[in-house]
Amino acid sequence: MQKGLNKLLESLPLLFAQTEGHISEKEARFLTLLPFLEFPGEILEIGSYKGKSTIILAKAAQIAGMKKIYACDPLFQSSATDPEDYPENQLPEIFQNNLKKSGVKDLIHFHKVKSKELSRTWEQPIKVLWIDGDHTLEGANLDFHLFKKHLVPGAIVAYHDVLHPFDGPIDIFIKEMLQSDDFGDCGLWGSIGWAQYIKGEIPTEKQKRRKEILYRKLRKLYIIPTKQSKILKLKYNFRRSRIPHKEENPYQWLRTMNSFKSSDL
Ligand SMILES: C[S@@+](CC[C@H](N)C(=O)[O-])C[C@H]1O[C@@H](n2cnc3c(N)ncnc32)[C@H](O)[C@@H]1O
Repeated sequence: MQKGLNKLLESLPLLFAQTEGHISEKEARFLTLLPFLEFPGEILEIGSYKGKSTIILAKAAQIAGMKKIYACDPLFQSSATDPEDYPENQLPEIFQNNLKKSGVKDLIHFHKVKSKELSRTWEQPIKVLWIDGDHTLEGANLDFHLFKKHLVPGAIVAYHDVLHPFDGPIDIFIKEMLQSDDFGDCGLWGSIGWAQYIKGEIPTEKQKRRKEILYRKLRKLYIIPTKQSKILKLKYNFRRSRIPHKEENPYQWLRTMNSFKSSDL
């Protein structure tokens, strides 16, 4: 397994360059680790756009021995927070072409719907909930609550754009993960806010401290800048630069996550 992950991490720059999208290479490295979590359950992506994160997750899942991943996106502009370069009408074709070229199309069980619609028929346990869809407060909140009940103990919930001026991801990350005893280890990997679901267990003192520190720093980012205010923007950028969001050693990170034992398992 480690050999497969080594190779994948080495070849990631190439894979990363193949598809246009809205994640950084550092964040892509985080995504490649998720299929290697040794918990039962599925991977669900909300918000695929042109398929960049979808393909990276699927490649990693293939190497980790998983048979499929799930993803959903209506592929039409439906949220005020959708990318500004949204290729209206052409996105379904771009997405399908990218998948065809990727060599992992068959692994991707894609639903061309919004997360809310998918949730109506969703029944599978989830070990990875990767949310990069509607970043409004309402949308981010909905995604979390629609799928939380399906999380297995040890699952990772990861929100994109916690360190970008959107209302939703930062708010849900703080309130539902950092301030909740349902989650243990947590962190920021680039702009991805992640936390491990520990249902029924009590966070350790170390985990509580880490959550508290992150919470105090992130709270200061609640001054979401408006486009008009240069000063607010500078203030926001300065405060953001003070928040720890470096990537971790991938093998150490996986060891820590996989060492979580639930009394439910
Ligand atoms: C920032 S892009 C995703 C970027 C992508 N993960 C990548 O790797 O480049 C956000 C995507 O979320 C989708 N979206 C918006 N609201 C959604 C919802 N309620 N459910 C699923 N997808 C949604 C948009 O159509 C858009 O393609």
